[in-house]
Amino acid sequence: MTKNIDWANLGFGYTKTDYRYIAYWKNGEWSKGELTQDNILHISEGSTALHYGQQCFEGLKAYRCKDGSINLFRPDENAKRMQRSADRLLMPRVPVEMFIDACKQVVKANEEWVAPYGTGATLYLRPFLIGVGDNVGVNPAKEYIFSIFCCPVGAYFKGGLKPTNFLISREFDRAAPHGTGAAKVGGNYAASLLAGKVAKERNFADCIYLDPATHTKIEEVGSANFFGITHDDKFITPFSPSILGSITKYSLLYLAEHRLGLKVEEGDVYVNQLDNFKEAGACGTAAVITPIGGIQDEDNFHVFYSETEVGPITKRLYDELTGIQFGDIEAPAGWIVKVD
Ligand SMILES: Cc1ncc(COP(=O)(O)O)c(C=O)c1O
Repeated sequence: MTKNIDWANLGFGYTKTDYRYIAYWKNGEWSKGELTQDNILHISEGSTALHYGQQCFEGLKAYRCKDGSINLFRPDENAKRMQRSADRLLMPRVPVEMFIDACKQVVKANEEWVAPYGTGATLYLRPFLIGVGDNVGVNPAKEYIFSIFCCPVGAYFKGGLKPTNFLISREFDRAAPHGTGAAKVGGNYAASLLAGKVAKERNFADCIYLDPATHTKIEEVGSANFFGITHDDKFITPFSPSILGSITKYSLLYLAEHRLGLKVEEGDVYVNQLDNFKEAGACGTAAVITPIGGIQDEDNFHVFYSETEVGPITKRLYDELTGIQFGDIEAPAGWIVKVD
């Protein structure tokens, strides 16, 4: 039985589901994680996560297939990225097997919240790792919590495959040149809230950040990576040490080359050379693939394929990616982990 939800009109928001997973790091080791119905954390007021941002998180989804089974998409990549984020902030690593097992437990325990096949909705999993315990100076914590909760979600950017407009952030950077941009840590997102608010107040879906050193190259969208398709059918996505290595982006680099036969490149995307692209998109677990209609940069508004229609290559990438995620198209080896 699935929950009685208006799946087609579901947005991207918090819903308290039935169970979440929680494990504790104390005295140098992880406790055996367990499921709980309690969605409130009780932590020390001195927790480093609260004062010094010593925390990181992940985002991945569970997908209902036509035969009723449930897929996770590349959860090992999320586990490894969380280890890199943990390394950056001096937190203990969660072993890959523990991470994947915890994801499976949470999905299984909340199976009624996994949308039916064909609705487009999914179950979003939010793993997080936080420094806790009594502390006051700027030090890494001695104790940590690793937890995963989940929420049923629909489209992140309203409209799904409808092209969306973005604003170049000239006033604010999301990350510093040698900062934490490549780690999925809360501080990057706290720093992005004001820029995102400015963009949304001007009716843009979000902002696009430029490289913090020269402000000449596109880095990424606030919650997704950027890609463009050149006039000679090359898939290009920015390479930078200060963007988050998107699992969706790396999947699209592979699919563009091996399934669509495009040339692919991780390279520089100069903001004054957007004419090189006939299509562009934002990609990520939450955003899936959101076509970019146009980009506003100061007084210039650049339209890619169209402000109302998705471009043909973007559409083919979307169909290939979502076909794999929902189990309709054969996945490259190791990309799908079944929850059974
Ligand atoms: C800043 C940022 N960039 C890119 C992404 C996309 O990454 P992924 O495809 O792994 O979800 C996300 C979302 O996780 C993000 O928050």
